[in-house]
Amino acid sequence: MDTALQNHAETAHSETSRAKRLKAATTETHDRLDKRIMAGQPFASVANYGRFLAVQHQFHRDIDALYDNAALSALLPDLADRRRFGQIGQDMKDLALDLPQPDEDPRFVADAVDDAVDLATALGWLYVAEGSNLGAAFLFKIAKALGLDENHGARHLAGHPDGRAQHWRSFTGALDGVTLDAAEEARVVDGANAAFRRVHALVEQQYG
Ligand code: HEM
Repeated sequence: MDTALQNHAETAHSETSRAKRLKAATTETHDRLDKRIMAGQPFASVANYGRFLAVQHQFHRDIDALYDNAALSALLPDLADRRRFGQIGQDMKDLALDLPQPDEDPRFVADAVDDAVDLATALGWLYVAEGSNLGAAFLFKIAKALGLDENHGARHLAGHPDGRAQHWRSFTGALDGVTLDAAEEARVVDGANAAFRRVHALVEQQYG
């Protein structure tokens, strides 16, 4: 393909939303994760749900430092409000569960994060964390059958006061507005897939 045509093709490609492309690029890892989680029957009992909370706790511990990152906050203006690590800890406390023993250092580390974080990779991880709150509408409903809600045990699954869909659209709108080159674009996808794989590995650990 000559360069002009190739540029044209790349422009056309970049006109579809980044969030939609991420969804397409991670559908398979998301499906495998959903199936794996549901196979562990996380809502069959509070004990099973506790394992799901332990997964969420470790995943959000991995990314928690990103919510303090100034460069990311400049790209995603309400980033600090989207943090859920504290809510997950509170959910575990509500249910008198011990916090999980970390299996390794967090993926993103607080004091090094501003200098060392690769923004593109971080955007991929944050896409997964935010998207999981959209999908959590269904999980929140079944959590209610266990007597859990936004004030007790399922705080981190609750929707945003603006509504889940609106909250998600404001995230994807900001994500879509970030200018990235092709290499960075690829690292967003790699980051998202790495996040899904990380959660999958945590599910394997918890539900064995
Ligand atoms: C059994 C567990 C899960 C189920 C049943 C589930 C289900 C769903 C559903 C139905 C949606 C689409 C929501 C909508 O479009 O209104 C969704 C979206 C999403 N979920 Fe899950 N999910 C589960 C777990 C997870 C986990 C653990 C993660 C990541 C840690 C995750 C990440 C995502 C992402 C990133 C999206 C957004 C996809 C997009 O529209 O770009 N999900 N999920």
